Parts: sequence; structure tokens; C-alpha cells
Amino acid sequence: STSSRLYHKNVVDHYEKPRNVGAFDKKDANVGTGLVGAPACGDVMKLQIRVDDDGNITDSCFKTFGCGSAIASSSVATEWVKGQHVDEATQIKNSEIANHLNLPPVKLHCSMLAEDAIKAAVKDVKEKQAKAKEAAAMAG
Ligand code: FES
Ligand code: FES
Repeated sequence: STSSRLYHKNVVDHYEKPRNVGAFDKKDANVGTGLVGAPACGDVMKLQIRVDDDGNITDSCFKTFGCGSAIASSSVATEWVKGQHVDEATQIKNSEIANHLNLPPVKLHCSMLAEDAIKAAVKDVKEKQAKAKEAAAMAG
């Protein structure tokens, strides 16, 4: 739902003071990492989520080696996914991020990176949690 999303005073903030720049421990079973690249320009985005055992995203961060629009898109994406369930987060569309940031058409692929990175991070954490459950079942 869009109601749980954060709306800052000013969208420009995401360019000037990107939110949630950082990294989590990739080996943590409750951390999902999405690493995606844009063939068009070679820019790379790493977005991470931390989830609880029920799949609720409690925290998110990113590192983006790319243009300002990609960085701003990551910043918005990390803010939106916080507090969402992973299955809700994968519904976020790049067009919503692009509209929010007023991206021009040539910059649409920058927001696409964010959509793809969220999906990749969710896939990663689901796989890791499934493996951890399997291991626990075998041990128990
Ligand atoms: Fe920050 Fe919308 S202005 S997420
Ligand atoms: Fe390629 Fe923005 S991510 S120009």
C-alpha cells in the first residue's frame, strides 16, 4: 500500500542527501542483497534489505555507483521498502519511483535499477531463509 510510504518535505533531498547509504553483512541469513547493473550505461546498484522471520522489511540500505538519478532512485526505494512485507516491496514499480522523482524519459532506466535491485534482494533473502530453515529442520 502506498499509505505506508514515506514522503519527505522535498524530493530534491534524495539528490542532495541520499537516505540509507551503507551496507549490511551479506552473510546474515536475514539480509537480502540485490546487485544489478544497467547495460545502457554500466552503472551498478547494490540494495540490501533486513527482514524479520515473517518477511517484514525492518531496514534497508544501498550503495550505488552511478548517476544522480540512480542514487536518488535507490534512496527513495530504501525508504519505501522499510516497513513493508517483501511481497509488497516487489510490487514497487520503477514508474512510481520515476514519477516521484520527476525523472525525464532518458533517466527511466535509472529507476529501473531500483525496481530490479529490490526484486533481487527479496529473491536472495527468501533463498537464504529457506536454506536456514532447512538446516534447522535437519539439525532438529
Ligand atoms: Fe522522500 Fe518521497 S520525498 S520518499
Ligand atoms: Fe544509467 Fe543513470 S543509471 S544513467
